[in-house]
Amino acid sequence: MTSSAAGRARVAVVTGAGRGIGAATVLALAADGWSVLAVDCAADDAALPYALASEAELHGLVADANRRAGGDDRVRPFVADVRDVEAIAAAVAEAETRWGGLDAAIACAGVIAGGAPLWEVPRAREQAVLDVDLGGVLNLARVAIPALLRRPEPRSGRFLAVASAAATRGLPMLAAYCAAKAGVGGLIRALGSELGATGVTANAVSPGSTATRMLDESARLYGLPGAESFGGQQPVGRLLDPDEIAAVLVFLAGTASSGMTGVVVPVDGGLAL
Ligand SMILES: NC(=O)c1ccc[n+]([C@@H]2O[C@H](COP(=O)([O-])OP(=O)(O)OC[C@H]3O[C@@H](n4cnc5c(N)ncnc54)[C@H](O)[C@@H]3O)[C@@H](O)[C@H]2O)c1
Repeated sequence: MTSSAAGRARVAVVTGAGRGIGAATVLALAADGWSVLAVDCAADDAALPYALASEAELHGLVADANRRAGGDDRVRPFVADVRDVEAIAAAVAEAETRWGGLDAAIACAGVIAGGAPLWEVPRAREQAVLDVDLGGVLNLARVAIPALLRRPEPRSGRFLAVASAAATRGLPMLAAYCAAKAGVGGLIRALGSELGATGVTANAVSPGSTATRMLDESARLYGLPGAESFGGQQPVGRLLDPDEIAAVLVFLAGTASSGMTGVVVPVDGGLAL
């Protein structure tokens, strides 16, 4: 079990927890002994042509995580849209009130849109990508980092985000997504500097093509028969499993990553090579 120097379970808020990489991260944290507030909008976005996680999926994930963690209710659901900074502040307050503080905030929520050159993509879709994929990470940083800093010294708070191989590659027909994810990289580097010697660090992972519902939508945007088509582009020759991204996020969330800050770690099966 991961615990602090004081011997208590560490506490995390994870956005985008309803499915995919966020859900895998909640499950892995719970298995590692964390208390987790699993946050998701749990509703579709009218600007986007594909379904997001449902409330039933979020509740199913929470039940699964609690079962695997021994059934003591250490994982709780919380419905909030990362674009709503007050709702995200309420999520952080809920974690602090329920478990006495916050040790990690992990921004997994994300959406994808494009499928056409930037100038042909409807403004509402471009805005959804920028507001969720970059604005949502900024919102979590704004309300969660003060909570991480409220822990007494010596601290080991972790602000984490999920960028993408798209942060460093110019992927056609995904320009706004590339811009948002490159923005996440810039944000993480700046936060690493700003947090300095506080004991709180900021890091991100950049996944390659990972088998989730978002990758199904990416395949549709590119007119491919299915997400499996992306597997061959990665040197490892296959799609990544969400658990492989979650494993690195759990390491970064823990105390053992104390020597790292301001970095974006590729977890991409070699895609960026
Ligand atoms: N799957 C990939 O190949 C891949 C590659 C690189 C990066 N990523 C990134 O990984 C992260 C997770 O994506 P995924 O692949 O698991 O996708 P996914 O669609 O399976 O999961 C995304 C989750 O975010 C939630 N969400 C969306 N908008 C939200 C909002 N406004 N507020 C709160 N929750 C919201 C959804 O309901 C869903 O549960 C995203 O940031 C994505 O950009 C994914």
